[in-house]
Amino acid sequence: MPELRIAGFPRPIEHTRTLTAYPQDVNENAFDVGHFPTLHGYQEARVDAVEFDGPRSRSCLVTRRRFPLAGALRFVIYAQGYGVGLTRALADIPQIRSQADSYIFSTPTGPRAMEFRVSASLKCPISMRQASGGRATAALAFSWLLTHLLGPTVRHDLVNDYPIWNHKVYLPQPRLAEGDGPISRYRQWAQQFYA
Ligand SMILES: [Fe+2]
Repeated sequence: MPELRIAGFPRPIEHTRTLTAYPQDVNENAFDVGHFPTLHGYQEARVDAVEFDGPRSRSCLVTRRRFPLAGALRFVIYAQGYGVGLTRALADIPQIRSQADSYIFSTPTGPRAMEFRVSASLKCPISMRQASGGRATAALAFSWLLTHLLGPTVRHDLVNDYPIWNHKVYLPQPRLAEGDGPISRYRQWAQQFYA
């Protein structure tokens, strides 16, 4: 299991939804980078690295998305998967010298039913994090502000996925197009979690 939240991050924003879906299909979202521009409007989305090791997965995704007030921000996301039910993602946001930390849980609750939970928080720019005393408190307050400024946009992106996840039909051999991402490798790795 991953270590709990790193010091310096404020209390995360949380989001929970009951879905008519399977954890494997929902988790596949992170490898299916082809849908990021078309569904979510991202300006850039690619998988730079992916590694499967026993029940764990590791991947590096690079995305760029426009945010209200903040403009287009590039994210370099380092995701660690623990089976198909838990992913912890740490992201660098170089333009604002900040970091994001998120946990994504998919818990089966019945046949074709699951609870989807996400928590996410952002940490303010590096220069502010080096402060102490009252300035450290100000840095934490600024991190809270960043979390609540950018977080709702990410939550909006998730909501766009829900109708697809709720109606997704599993095809054992999907027809893939260039730029779809390492979906086949992910599915081969996920087979180990079924009896
Ligand atoms: Fe998505």
